[in-house]
Amino acid sequence: MLKTLTPARFPAARFRRLRRTGLLRELVQETNLNPKDFVYPLFVTHGRDVRAEVPSMPGVYNLSVDQLAGEAREVRDLGIPAVLLFGLPAEKDEVGSEAYAPDGIVQQAVRALKEAAPELLVVTDVCLCEYTSHGHCGVVVDGDVDNDRSLELLANTALSQAQAGADIVAPSDMMDGRVGAIRAILDAEGYTNTPIMAYAAKYASAFYGPFREAADSAPQFGDRRSYQMDPPNVREALREIETDIQEGADIVMVKPALAFMDVIARARELFAHPLAAYNVSGEYAMVKAAGRAGWIDEQRITMEILTGIKRAGADIIITYHAKEAARWLREGR
Ligand code: PBG
Repeated sequence: MLKTLTPARFPAARFRRLRRTGLLRELVQETNLNPKDFVYPLFVTHGRDVRAEVPSMPGVYNLSVDQLAGEAREVRDLGIPAVLLFGLPAEKDEVGSEAYAPDGIVQQAVRALKEAAPELLVVTDVCLCEYTSHGHCGVVVDGDVDNDRSLELLANTALSQAQAGADIVAPSDMMDGRVGAIRAILDAEGYTNTPIMAYAAKYASAFYGPFREAADSAPQFGDRRSYQMDPPNVREALREIETDIQEGADIVMVKPALAFMDVIARARELFAHPLAAYNVSGEYAMVKAAGRAGWIDEQRITMEILTGIKRAGADIIITYHAKEAARWLREGR
């Protein structure tokens, strides 16, 4: 004789009950993406009326300063709170002079953005690689990137950006001690209220390829492995983050995002500081390329990626998808 099942005991849980309709699913949704989570990167270049699409990054442009006002208002109206600025200088030299020039391209851009949309936060990337002839993030001495000599130039870059009106400075160079050096110069010059968002755990990644095309910042010899992190390491990332916090970082970042979700999750568990993740150029380019080929559902993939980064623990997501994702969120997708 077959025994009958006791319905109250089997199955013990019916997960499908709460998956039945969109309303039920929304009620129990654990992660909510919002345009307020996003930071939108901008590449600014000299000239007038320049709007040059980056070949490997469809939808991403090199913009001249006169184009920024419209861009800033568009970003703000989409509910995105901040942009992250990168600059392409008129000339490169050994010491990256335009990075810390009072009328450098980024300094000009900050002023234009703050005038056009004062309520939009302007974050400036602090690095030398776009500005140096050799393409490294610091000063090269005897074929090697000299850590301590680079600090002065990086600190002066951050200071000149703060003087131009930057709301947050974001060092991405990965020299040791840069956060402390930047905090010291900002405080000494009266910018005690300018926060530092440190690219704390930044890996030497092949995912930066398209960015280096956009920012013309590929190293002319060697690579960045002597200063950026080795991808297999996670404990080292936690030490990097801890050190940046000790030196005064207000926000810490993990970069790239997709192949480093475990690093984001560990950092979220261990540190109370606001945590940013950078959904980098190569991650964007892969989605765009596959989308164009018709191989993936680009919109769904994009939202799944951004939601995943937030679920892993990021409070702030720096992403080239920011504008389109904000639009999709507004349309209720
Ligand atoms: C500058 C910098 C890079 C990125 C942000 N800041 C490139 C690099 O380190 O080579 C990469 C961003 C991206 O790939 O989207 N040091």
